[in-house]
Amino acid sequence: MPRATGATTASSSSLQGTSFYFIDIIYISVGGRQLSIGQSVFQTAGTIIDSGTVITRLFFGVHRDERRVSDDERVPDKYTNITIPTISFTFGGNLKVDLDLSEIFVAVNSTIACLAFAGNRDASDVGIFGNTQQKTLEVVYDVVGGKLGFDTSGCN
Ligand SMILES: *[C@@H]1O[C@H](CO)[C@@H](O)[C@H](O)[C@H]1NC(C)=O
Ligand SMILES: *[C@@H]1O[C@H](CO)[C@@H](O)[C@H](O)[C@H]1NC(C)=O
Repeated sequence: MPRATGATTASSSSLQGTSFYFIDIIYISVGGRQLSIGQSVFQTAGTIIDSGTVITRLFFGVHRDERRVSDDERVPDKYTNITIPTISFTFGGNLKVDLDLSEIFVAVNSTIACLAFAGNRDASDVGIFGNTQQKTLEVVYDVVGGKLGFDTSGCN
């Protein structure tokens, strides 16, 4: 079943001599709860979509509980079963993408998986929507229309 199909606006821009597409992240939710990160935080420096960066990097602000999702955390050895909440990104254009499990963790080896998100130090650092989070997404670039389409039905 597709977890998202739709389009969001994208603008291209020259950053450090290379062309990137900037996308609008409106909010992120974890387990159905919207993280209280103001949209302005995502917009301060903007967020690019990059297929050449593995881990998504965003500025998560100072909210302690929510900051936990920004750290590469190890699950303590004693936990054999853990429940992973649904993580979803809502982009401009009301495009909501629920991440697949394979888009939340990067497996280090058979026993260790790391959360595939890292925190930017500062809101002025450009955010990056990395390739781990795009693993099952079909990404369509409408360069002329300034839009980016996501479809999750293609690559599962
Ligand atoms: C983990 O889940 C499996 C399958 O549901 C269950 O059989 C097992 O007892 C659980 N282990 C622990 C430590 O809760
Ligand atoms: C997985 O990687 C960790 C950290 O490098 C290491 O300590 C552990 O022995 C590895 N486990 C396996 C099964 O390779």
